[in-house]
Amino acid sequence: MTEKDTTQTSESEIAVHWQEEDYFYPSMRFIAQANMTDPTIYDRFSLENFPNCYKEYADMLDWDAYWHTLLDTSDAPCWKWFVGGRLNASHNCIDRHLAKNKNKTAIHFVPELEEEKIEHITYQELFVRVNELAALLRDFAGLKPGDRATLHMPMSAELPIAMLACARLGVIHSEVFGGFSGRACADRIIDSQSKILITMDGYYRSGTLLDHKKNADVAVELALKEGQKVDKVLVWQRYPGKASSPTPMVAGRDYFINEELKKYRGQRIQPVSMPAEAPLFLMYTSGTTGKPKGCQHSIGGYLAYVTGTSKYVQDIHPEDVYWCMADIGWITGHSYIVYGPLSLGASTVIYEGVPNYPDAGRPWRIAQELDVNIFHTAPTAIRALRKIGPDEPAKYDYHFKHMTTVGEPIEPEVWKWYYKEVGKGEAIIVDTWWQTETGGFLCSTLPAITPMKPGSAGPALPGIHPIILDEDGNELPAGSGKAGNICIRNPWPGAFQTIWGDRDRYVQNYYARYCKDPKSKRWQDWPYLTGDAAVQSQDGYYRILGRIDDVINVSGHRLGTKEIESAALTVSEVAEAAVVPVAHDIKGKEPDLYIALKPGVNAHPDLEKRISDAVCNEIGKIAKPRKVWIVKDMPKTRSGKIMRRVLAAISNKRDVGDVTTLANPNIVEEIQAMMRK
Ligand code: PRX
Repeated sequence: MTEKDTTQTSESEIAVHWQEEDYFYPSMRFIAQANMTDPTIYDRFSLENFPNCYKEYADMLDWDAYWHTLLDTSDAPCWKWFVGGRLNASHNCIDRHLAKNKNKTAIHFVPELEEEKIEHITYQELFVRVNELAALLRDFAGLKPGDRATLHMPMSAELPIAMLACARLGVIHSEVFGGFSGRACADRIIDSQSKILITMDGYYRSGTLLDHKKNADVAVELALKEGQKVDKVLVWQRYPGKASSPTPMVAGRDYFINEELKKYRGQRIQPVSMPAEAPLFLMYTSGTTGKPKGCQHSIGGYLAYVTGTSKYVQDIHPEDVYWCMADIGWITGHSYIVYGPLSLGASTVIYEGVPNYPDAGRPWRIAQELDVNIFHTAPTAIRALRKIGPDEPAKYDYHFKHMTTVGEPIEPEVWKWYYKEVGKGEAIIVDTWWQTETGGFLCSTLPAITPMKPGSAGPALPGIHPIILDEDGNELPAGSGKAGNICIRNPWPGAFQTIWGDRDRYVQNYYARYCKDPKSKRWQDWPYLTGDAAVQSQDGYYRILGRIDDVINVSGHRLGTKEIESAALTVSEVAEAAVVPVAHDIKGKEPDLYIALKPGVNAHPDLEKRISDAVCNEIGKIAKPRKVWIVKDMPKTRSGKIMRRVLAAISNKRDVGDVTTLANPNIVEEIQAMMRK
């Protein structure tokens, strides 16, 4: 069980009421150009052909030495892929493209301030900048293969440059999401035992230049208190040569990278040939309890998997301009802003700021300006843009062929807005289900082969073989209408290798639940527990219901909160909906429904009733909310996720805990005041 799963309920008997939606099909125009149009790929990647099928992904990479063992299970469940192989990730993302494409844009960096110029970095320029930084990291910072470096950087071109410079040296990077606090950064420095911190002095967020350097000072101080000394803090200046932060530099510890780099002009660093199974990076996932877990991803397996899935699922061609609006500080950004797209030689867009700055038209202006043709974002952003600028996309002349949604279940209503308004009815959508731990996609349609179905992630990817198990480990058949714990039967190259420094926790959290023989060396005995609840419909498509703490048990009927929220969203005035469980002494739990309305719509009792009726009509009386609370805004994390935990605390009149790290902490008090009335 992962730490996100704090529920005391299980999923095996969840009553599922979501309506099945009709299929949507890709256009001939899309199919005609798609990378993968051969339906036999599912046979090639069947369980019978496992693990040899993954040679196809490995062969998308350049190897210094070819591997001899595709999958080594001798240290189960720590799987080793492509053993004996040697390669370098930075070479694969940069050097190998130079012969044909050195003058092509690798990175478009879009500053948040619209009046600032977009930076277009060619593959040749990326090569030069990564080499010079690698020289600095090796010779000035003293980093060696296998060392860890913590990065605490905002969305900037310098972030992938730093990641790739580490990768060039065989140094393990650990990027901490820029919006995290100094404390969070310290925890990750300590856990990874990093002696080097790479950061930036400031960055723009919603039109304000934030002082980011101060977080580094806090992080280094706190880490030292717990015994981890950071020798050097390397600081990029947001504007080279100009201070963007009032926080002073500490002599002998802090150095401006852009100044120091002058000494490394023209230096070239031979990419260090690394074993395939050496770690490429750590990505910490914060559970709700306990210390963050450092998911350790490999060089060979990870890079092969994100390259293969970027090619077949994202349909990235070298001539595409691809924009994933996620933050590189999350796994989505690592896999599908940096490593996947650059490995395929595409142009990847990095946007510094928030999607609605200065207004809700900004993403579509960026798309128009850069001729973006592949777009990738999360339901939370789609809902927000739908709320504040439903008619904006139509005003701009851009054309997406392909769009992705990732991170949480997307309600069919929102999916359809994304399809019709953002995609202009021309773009296909892939709803990609996966996790920090999995490195790359697990379930999604293959865009030219399997049709889309709103509200459903789709079938498993070729080579991924899920199984839905009940509490006792029995398999739930497709179409049973029952939800259970979705697991993956087989290992795959993108899967994390372990939790950094804590193999026991890795085994315990992800494999112990359904492993019948802990001594087994056969992969067949180690189903991977994702910690999500899911149902599979007759056609084999998976609908992810959310983490197991997103489930409400009402009078013995378990309802996916997403189903109730989706029902509420069918009311046209509703912009966002969030459901939380409230304790009830007879029914066990009841759903409380929080609603944010579209701009210009006023709250009134009739609307509350219509929303409540919609839930009853869509799902059944069993799901009738205890109360519909119309709120001005939802409490959200800085990355935009609705904090249902906080709403649940309010509904249950419990202590909301520390809410200072929310994007909008004041709303908590406002909602509490409203409920006291
Ligand atoms: O509950 C699932 C949800 O996000 C969780 C993983 O979160 P994280 O590690 O932060 O990675 C997010 C980016 C991959 C999963 O356990 N999730 C992710 N994608 C989807 C999703 N839920 C439903 N549909 C998705 N497409």
